[in-house]
Amino acid sequence: MLNQKKVAVYVTGGIAAYKALLFVRLLIKEGAQVKVAMTQSACQFVSPLTFQVLTKEKVMVDTFDENDPSVVQHIHFADWSELAIVIPATANTIAKMANGIADNFVTSALLATTAPKVIVPAMNEHMWENPATVRNCTQLQKEGVHFIEPAVGFLAEGYSGKGRLPEPEEVLQQIKELNLFEQEEQPLLGKKVLITAGGTKERIDPVRYISNDSSGKMGYALAEDAVKKGAEVILISATTALPVPKGVKIEYVESARGMQEKVLNHFSSVDIAIMVAAVSDYRVKEPATQKIKKIDDEDEITLTLVKNPDILKQLGSLKKEGQTVIGFAAETHQVIEFAKQKLVKKNADFIIANDVSDQSIGFGADMHQVTILSKTGEEILLPKVSKQLLAKEIWKNLIQHL
Ligand code: PMT
Repeated sequence: MLNQKKVAVYVTGGIAAYKALLFVRLLIKEGAQVKVAMTQSACQFVSPLTFQVLTKEKVMVDTFDENDPSVVQHIHFADWSELAIVIPATANTIAKMANGIADNFVTSALLATTAPKVIVPAMNEHMWENPATVRNCTQLQKEGVHFIEPAVGFLAEGYSGKGRLPEPEEVLQQIKELNLFEQEEQPLLGKKVLITAGGTKERIDPVRYISNDSSGKMGYALAEDAVKKGAEVILISATTALPVPKGVKIEYVESARGMQEKVLNHFSSVDIAIMVAAVSDYRVKEPATQKIKKIDDEDEITLTLVKNPDILKQLGSLKKEGQTVIGFAAETHQVIEFAKQKLVKKNADFIIANDVSDQSIGFGADMHQVTILSKTGEEILLPKVSKQLLAKEIWKNLIQHL
């Protein structure tokens, strides 16, 4: 499972750091390519040189050790890895991870990496049970980070309790059992997938527009996971602040009609189309070509809106045998009922419904929860998790049905 895998090992400052040396040896024996990053505190317990000799790689400690001008080291390190393991993970580093703090090489690279993350905590029993630590671990678990539970046994403090780092062989075995590279089966190999994302903009004048709060996160997460599952992915995106996921071909658009044009250019050659974008239903009939000036003695002005094309509906009517069309439905009430109506009206194969009245999910949020509705009448409620994890769940379910 780990043969040829690029594994980043993050060592933080606890007495169990010595066990990380043995763990790194085991990874190398498994055929993994290993690079190590350490916090300054970890260096108090074991020497970076020992890891360097084991891995034959420079050990990263200082964020500003930028000796290669062609890269930014912590981003380069983060992007290189296919798996990130924090061993031992102190309460301090876990707290920083849970709160997005990036104040040293380890936490900066961990914030930047998109690789699956496994945390192997080791600390005093009372620190492990402290509500703050429990809260931080729960938060990270919700975001899809994996944990290897500490073992019960004799602690460095001189008494027994929960908090020991399990033996390195045990940690390795548990990581293997997580089956993190399961997606390598690439069930979407040979498939071409089109995904739309973000909120379209409809111009009022050169400096103003009508839009919505879609961040693109859900669409980008689906695109990223589809690539990992072997698909060729074309992402038609409204402008977002998000980085383009690795391996995804992207085309940017502004308006609903711009999105329609690009989607139709590609649709005949794709196997699966997923419309995640929040597309404006209406546009301004006559956008001004110059900035609209304030009229001093008028309290109201009127904008006339006209209907935009319904791209999803168009795909539903154009789709040929073998093509699957999937839409999202953002609803604030009667979510399932309205989503079912969309399934029929738009001739989609699936509608993925979400309740956007819940501020903790949906537009702009990092977490999301959806129900997948199929034209064959199934309703699958997925758990509330990060958009990255949800993307995997959505694909898993869609693939089972395709
Ligand atoms: O981008 P994020 O911040 O991550 O948020 C994710 C999301 C909330 C945007 C996403 O989960 C979502 O719900 N996307 C659909 C938003 C939407 O416009 O829903 P709708 O119910 O208005 O439209 C139904 C479907 O028709 C959608 O697939 C939409 O892309 C499509 N549509 C809508 C209007 C239109 N003119 N053409 C379309 O193709």
